[in-house]
Amino acid sequence: MKAGIFYYSFSGNTKKVAEMTVPLLAARHYEVYINKIEPRYEASTFTAQCAWALCRYRTGLVNFYQPETLDLLIVGTPVWAFNPAPPVVRFLKQLKPSVARKALLIVTYGSGVGKERCVQVMEEWCRKKSIPVREVLYIQEKLLRHPEKLTPLVTAALEKAHAA
Ligand SMILES: Cc1cc2nc3c(=O)[nH]c(=O)nc-3n(C[C@H](O)[C@H](O)[C@H](O)COP(=O)(O)O)c2cc1C
Repeated sequence: MKAGIFYYSFSGNTKKVAEMTVPLLAARHYEVYINKIEPRYEASTFTAQCAWALCRYRTGLVNFYQPETLDLLIVGTPVWAFNPAPPVVRFLKQLKPSVARKALLIVTYGSGVGKERCVQVMEEWCRKKSIPVREVLYIQEKLLRHPEKLTPLVTAALEKAHAA
């Protein structure tokens, strides 16, 4: 079985969660590869990042390639102004339809305001690409300081996505 993990992370939270999934998937005999989604342009201040996310300002991706057919696609994003980070939207837009049998979404966030809307946007793109979303892993950033709580959540989400 093949799993591809694609994530964008500005300050490292989503990266950390995405990277945690690699050994857990490998232990379930997945062939795993992980890629950071790299935009050509990256806003660097909070205000510019919010504007970028809200306006869905387009950006090209430096390293986009079409994944081979996957058994499990994992897409990770921070919530930015109630939206996925723009490079993640761009990634989903560029995906070939039916490129994965199913998807697991990873969303990291601060307060939690807008996290459902962020997921709706991602689910909509997955629906357009005929990729069923089987599980959503919501991780509040403060949980990253508590691996004893984080690891069971990530493990349970992978288990559900695997079984679905
Ligand atoms: C520009 C910007 C906008 C954000 N907007 C939200 C938001 O709408 N809701 C929320 O709960 N957290 C929000 N956050 C917090 C991030 O989602 C959170 O810190 C996330 O874990 C960062 O992930 P990263 O370290 O992978 O970049 C925002 C952070 C930034 C920088």
